[in-house]
Amino acid sequence: MMVQKDYSLKQHNTFGIEVAAREFVRMEDPADWKSVASLPSFKKKQHLILGGGSNVLFTGDYDGLLIHVASKGKRPLREEKEHVIVEAQSGEEWDELVSWCVGHGWGGLENLSMIPGQVGAGPIQNIGAYGAELKDHFHSLDALDKASGKITVFGPEQCRFGYRSSHFKQGGKNRYLILGVRFRLDKKHRIKTGYAALARELDAMNVCNPDIATVREAVCRVRSSKLPDPGKLGNAGSFFKNPVVSVKEHMALEEAYPQLVSFPSNGGVKLAAGWLIEQAGWKGYRKGDAGVHDKQALVLVNHGGASGRDILELAMRIQRSVREKFHVKLEPEVNIL
Ligand code: FAD
Ligand code: EPU
Repeated sequence: MMVQKDYSLKQHNTFGIEVAAREFVRMEDPADWKSVASLPSFKKKQHLILGGGSNVLFTGDYDGLLIHVASKGKRPLREEKEHVIVEAQSGEEWDELVSWCVGHGWGGLENLSMIPGQVGAGPIQNIGAYGAELKDHFHSLDALDKASGKITVFGPEQCRFGYRSSHFKQGGKNRYLILGVRFRLDKKHRIKTGYAALARELDAMNVCNPDIATVREAVCRVRSSKLPDPGKLGNAGSFFKNPVVSVKEHMALEEAYPQLVSFPSNGGVKLAAGWLIEQAGWKGYRKGDAGVHDKQALVLVNHGGASGRDILELAMRIQRSVREKFHVKLEPEVNIL
């Protein structure tokens, strides 16, 4: 295992921020952990686990050891009457896993098509899109406790999944390295087309009874029409979570803003943060190379030379203006480092 010094992270974060890690290692096999944990820098300095870097914002150089997960492999583990249990290593590309499952006729992940990043990061924020979340077809995962080196199997209960949240973002934050994840997929498909933008796209494609491959195609088409391709325009997807407010707060807001976009959510109401940000006048805004995407106001973008601090400063201005206009607090979804 090679330790690289002052290693550029520009290709390792989808914002495309030019920063460096003091030390950088690539972990290609879970067995590499022993060597990583015995590095002097692991003991003396801070460390960070990084997958595809599609949900992070670096606000400066990383003065510590950056551990890039690169373990590959996926396989069907066993077959049940109506399900297939599939296992993937953390360094697998998420969308390659989805494509492979759809190709084999195993249903459940198709609505989560085209989400950037790696399998190991998926459970951290319980990735979700177009009416589905990772938790819907999650079976279990293997997590290595970095302090003790012990590997524990976590089932759905222990993961405490919520909207863009899990145990690994709460009580277990920064404690574990997720090594691999298993999913319970359907042989008999349950097609989910309830998300408005997805239903509209299927209509436009003239499809009434889509199969999982068609759902995947429709999801990819919707995503390509509004989310910027990080290869062309730096971004990390939604910068903020959609805020959840009480029914009472929602009623007051709706009275003042009848066009407010919202969805019921576990006894509360989820507001479309993109709508709030657009109404506050930010859509398409640009200062220097830091900006707000012109097709999706929830996505902050780097037009080329923005620093992490430029993006963070813009995010804070947006937070302030949404709070002043709507009295709603926006919480970042992106991990700010
Ligand atoms: P990274 O950014 O590398 O890491 C994210 C966090 O997880 C960090 O805190 C890191 O330390 C930790 N981590 C990563 N791997 C491991 C591991 N193996 N063990 C322990 N900790 C780990 N997200 C959605 O939920 N839905 C979307 O629709 C969506 N769309 C997006 C669209 C675009 C264009 C972009 C750029 C991002 C989008 N995202 C979306 C966000 C992002 O793709 C997901 O959060 C993804 O799961 C991040 O994966 P990653 O490997 O890049 O994680
Ligand atoms: N909207 C606006 N203006 C905007 C953007 C959105 O008015 O600029 C309104 C529209 O009315 C739209 C509604 O907000 O109907 C919802 O927008 P969209 O369908 O684009 O979804 P979102 O709530 O903005 C969430 C996730 C995305 C996920 C999509 C699809 C969060 C924080 N974001 O975005 O996830 O892909 O739904 O399910 O929950 C991510 O997490 O990085 C991410 C991209």
